[in-house]
Amino acid sequence: MGAAIEVKGLRKSFKDKEVLKGVDLEVKQGEIFALLGSNGAGKTTIVKVLTTLLAQDGGTAIVDGYDVASKSDRVRHSISLTGQFAAVDEILTGRENLIMIAKLRHLDHPRQVADNMLQRFGLTEAADRKPSTYSGGMRRRLDIALSLVGNPRIIFLDEPTTGLDPEARIEVWKIVRELADGGTTIFLTTQYLEEAEQLADQIAILHEGRIIAGGTLEELKKLFPPAKAEYVEKQPTLEEIFLAIIGKREAN
Ligand SMILES: Nc1ncnc2c1ncn2[C@@H]1O[C@H](COP(=O)(O)OP(=O)(O)OP(=O)(O)O)[C@@H](O)[C@H]1O
Ligand SMILES: [Mg+2]
Repeated sequence: MGAAIEVKGLRKSFKDKEVLKGVDLEVKQGEIFALLGSNGAGKTTIVKVLTTLLAQDGGTAIVDGYDVASKSDRVRHSISLTGQFAAVDEILTGRENLIMIAKLRHLDHPRQVADNMLQRFGLTEAADRKPSTYSGGMRRRLDIALSLVGNPRIIFLDEPTTGLDPEARIEVWKIVRELADGGTTIFLTTQYLEEAEQLADQIAILHEGRIIAGGTLEELKKLFPPAKAEYVEKQPTLEEIFLAIIGKREAN
C-alpha cells in the first residue's frame, strides 16, 4: 500500500524561533501513526501544516497524494482534524452539532448521518442535551464523531485523550482501533507513552525540531537496553534478595 502522508525536510519558524528544523516522516495507508514529543516540541505545528491550517517555511508535505501547499482544497477533502482543544459548539445540542457538520459537508440525509454517529459513539441518550452537560469523555467522543462525519480517509487526532480518565481513554482507543480496522489512516499526537504502545503501528519521536527515532514499538525497543522499569516490576527471586542483602552488608 502507498503512503498516506509523506513529509520531507519540513521547516517552520515562529519569528526567530525555529520549531521544525527538517522533519521527515511517512505514514502508510490504514496505519496508526503516533507522534511523540514533549510540550512545545512542535507536534501541533506539524498537525497544522498537514491539515493546511499553517503554511510551512520549507520542505514538502504530501497528504493523500496532494501537496498541502499547492493543493490544500484537495487535501481538505481527504482529512479531518480533532484538535487539541475541543471544537464542539456549546449552544447547539450534540445532535445539532452533528447535523450542522453533515450539512456543511453537503451530505445527503444529515439527520440520519447524525443519528448513526450518536449510536456509534454511545451518545444517543445525551443527543438532545448541550455539550456543556457532558463529561470530558463524552465531549471527546462527540468531538471525534464530528470529525468523522463524511468518512474522511485520514484523520488527525491531536492529543485525543489528554485530560481523560483511564476509562474514557480506553473508550477513545477502542474508537481509534475500529477506525483503523476499517481502513482509515490515523495520525495522532500524544504525550502518553502507553497510548502509543497500545495503539500505534508506527511511532516517531520529535525532539529539537527533528524526528530523532522512528519505527515500530519492537524496533524502538531494540534501540535501547532493557528498561530499568522492567527490573523494578519483576518480582525479585529470593536469591536476588539474598544477594542484595549480602552485598549491602559487605559494602558497609
Ligand atoms: N502561532 C505561534 N506563534 C508563535 N509561536 C508559536 C506559535 N505556535 C506555536 N508556537 C511555538 O512553537 C513551539 C511548538 O509548539 P506546538 O504547539 O507545535 O508544540 P506541541 O508539541 O504541540 O506542544 P504541546 O505538547 O504542549 O501541545 C512552542 O514553543 C510554541 O510556543
Ligand atoms: Mg500540541
